[in-house]
Amino acid sequence: MDLERRADGSAGDADYGQIGGAYTRYRRPEPRIADQILQALGDARTVVNVGAGAGSYEPRDREVTPVEPSASMRAQRPANLATAIDGTAENLPFADGTFDAAMTTFSVHQWSELHAGLRELRRVARGPVVILTCDPALVRRFWLYEYAPEVLDTEARRYPAPGELTRVLGGATTVTPVPIPLDCVDGFNEAYYGRPEALLDPGARQANSAWSFVDDAVHDRFATTLRRHLDDGTWDSRYGDLRTQPTYDGSLILINSTP
Ligand SMILES: C[S@@+](CC[C@H](N)C(=O)[O-])C[C@H]1O[C@@H](n2cnc3c(N)ncnc32)[C@H](O)[C@@H]1O
Repeated sequence: MDLERRADGSAGDADYGQIGGAYTRYRRPEPRIADQILQALGDARTVVNVGAGAGSYEPRDREVTPVEPSASMRAQRPANLATAIDGTAENLPFADGTFDAAMTTFSVHQWSELHAGLRELRRVARGPVVILTCDPALVRRFWLYEYAPEVLDTEARRYPAPGELTRVLGGATTVTPVPIPLDCVDGFNEAYYGRPEALLDPGARQANSAWSFVDDAVHDRFATTLRRHLDDGTWDSRYGDLRTQPTYDGSLILINSTP
């Protein structure tokens, strides 16, 4: 399957050649989420990580084969991780059943051909296919919806429903909510549930691809309104309890499909 690729090789709906440059400054693997992924991988020794980016969530105690189409993301991989293969989910260059397990984190919503990519993950893995993603039915519950509805509408449109993922993967599938810790070091939007000031940083927004699909006017309105609500206490009067809430049950889910 021939996919359209951008100048840096990006193969999904976001152009990481444009937005990926500072990804690792804001998006680091959150250890408590990594633990949940590790559990789901079970005793898999060989793991293919698709849409691997800069290597977040790649287990250090397994033999990982990363696949990542964007050169700008591959360039941010730490030297102690395996070199990523330039490839796409839709066309994995491996024989059937090559790996004990397959994983993909924060990526399926970007793929050009979701079903083809899922079938490829299923094909190359003998055991679990583990997917960290968001449930589109839950993304608009976040307070950000009040300030930048366009961004969460974009997210809700992009993320596939869990039922679609489980249906295409087949086998025995579980969908488990992933609690987000207050000091989450992986800066996806909901990670800032109790630290709203952090989203005033344009770099933090750029590390979340949904913000690249909305106009500058949305960024400006968001920043102006949130800053005003932080200064005059409006945000805290509505959501201030979140500043000390240890975890947040947002839209983050982990899907685990075994054949
Ligand atoms: C938000 S980043 C996540 C990166 C990494 N998995 C993480 O958790 O930090 C999404 C990644 O999916 C990759 N991606 C997008 N479309 C893809 C496709 N069709 N096949 C493989 N990877 C793709 C992007 O290049 C990008 O690196």
